[in-house]
Amino acid sequence: MSLRHFLRDDDVTQAEQAEILALAAELKKSPFAHRPLDGPRGVGVIFEKNSTRTRFSFELGIAQLGGHAVVVDGRDTQLGREETLGDTGSVLSRYVDAIVWRTFEQSRLDEMSSTATVPVVNALSNEFHPCQVLADLQTIAERKGALNGLNLTYFGDGANNMAHSLLLGGVTAGMNVTVAAPAGFEPLPWILDAAAKRAAETGATVSVTGDPVVGARGADVLVTDTWTSMGQEDDGLDRVGPFRPFQLDTALLGHADPEAIVLHCLPAHRGEEITDEVLDGPHSVVWDEAENRLHAQKALLVWLLAKAAA
Ligand code: CP
Ligand code: NVA
Repeated sequence: MSLRHFLRDDDVTQAEQAEILALAAELKKSPFAHRPLDGPRGVGVIFEKNSTRTRFSFELGIAQLGGHAVVVDGRDTQLGREETLGDTGSVLSRYVDAIVWRTFEQSRLDEMSSTATVPVVNALSNEFHPCQVLADLQTIAERKGALNGLNLTYFGDGANNMAHSLLLGGVTAGMNVTVAAPAGFEPLPWILDAAAKRAAETGATVSVTGDPVVGARGADVLVTDTWTSMGQEDDGLDRVGPFRPFQLDTALLGHADPEAIVLHCLPAHRGEEITDEVLDGPHSVVWDEAENRLHAQKALLVWLLAKAAA
């Protein structure tokens, strides 16, 4: 058995990421081509934060793989009464074939996965959102063909989960990733280091700029996300003023490659990080991106379950 977890985007190599994306494309064409959870075997899906896309796509995806999703609000479980993460990982592993978890600090995922004997999947943490980026990569590949060598720029909160996952996942795919963020909202240094290390292996580049126009210039893929992530509502920082110049609007898009595409993981705060005109405009691929959560996550589970069974 080769137990693998998917807690951050660089938990897979470039070749492994490509295998998962190929499976995702296959599953999009043939949704029932793989049934590793026939039985039904179970997957635990735990939420400690709100969700629409992740919840629907995992629950449906697990059913389409032949399995049963036990979907719970973490606060309703004994996690809400401080049963340890380690004990929870040990117990859930006796029931289910994988654990999918949306939580707060990445360290919580590390702790649960240290005792789990089934794959643990990060369904969003404060630091990373790797399932979203698999869907993003699938969407970019559909529109642009090869990922290698594309220029992707993320605008907005450079210290949030999407910025970090696009850095790690993007350079793993061989894309040149730029983060355009206001001062004080740059990516965490240890994540930039990890991205630079992976980029050196794949031939990609990593850069950070405080100038949104520099970020947009020549970009093939433009991405943004909310300026206030879940859990940051009361952090006391001004999450509007410094971000205004980074709004993805028609003027900023005008600096990008004429064939550029626009992604947003959603939910969008229309009129803040992105205008209606861009979100609903011809460059936007956000609805395909949302759909691809289903296909990419099914592919990830198929891949992880095959590794665990090997
Ligand atoms: N993009 C995303 O993860 O959406 P939800 O919060 O609705 O799951
Ligand atoms: N950065 C956002 C992503 C939501 C899917 C958040 O964490 O709230």
